[in-house]
Amino acid sequence: MIFRLVVNGSPTTIDTAPATRLLDVLRDRLGLTGAKEACGRGDCGACTVLIGERAVPSCLVLAARVDEPVQTVEGIAAEAAGLREALADMGGLQCGYCTPGLVVRAHQLVTSRECDLSDPDNIRRALAGNFCRCTGYNGVVAAIQHAAAGGGKP
Ligand code: FES
Ligand code: FES
Repeated sequence: MIFRLVVNGSPTTIDTAPATRLLDVLRDRLGLTGAKEACGRGDCGACTVLIGERAVPSCLVLAARVDEPVQTVEGIAAEAAGLREALADMGGLQCGYCTPGLVVRAHQLVTSRECDLSDPDNIRRALAGNFCRCTGYNGVVAAIQHAAAGGGKP
């Protein structure tokens, strides 16, 4: 099956089996290995990417069904630089396996302001789909609040 995708601003044509997941196209066809596979069933958020404005687990999405631009953690790297730095400096990053998906979701939170980010409970609720076994989330929440307040080196 041949279809078109726009990934990180670049249109591309993909020829693959109809049931191929977006995660596999990103990693295996396009070399974008930022999105990670962990659970493979939509529970952990390690594979999160942006489809249009939504942060979505790419392991649950059929690539051929995607009809909006995709942004991966590589595509938002510059825009999310302050957030990434804050995560590293404020204890929001340890082993790093969850980090690419978490950066995508956190960046979407900071830019969309879908909830009041001054309330840590709102951030914790919004991150319910992004599992982190290392940090306990306090550093993650602090980093998101830092980025939402304008960023800069913590
Ligand atoms: S690998 Fe996609 S949600 Fe866990
Ligand atoms: S930093 Fe290790 S799982 Fe989040």
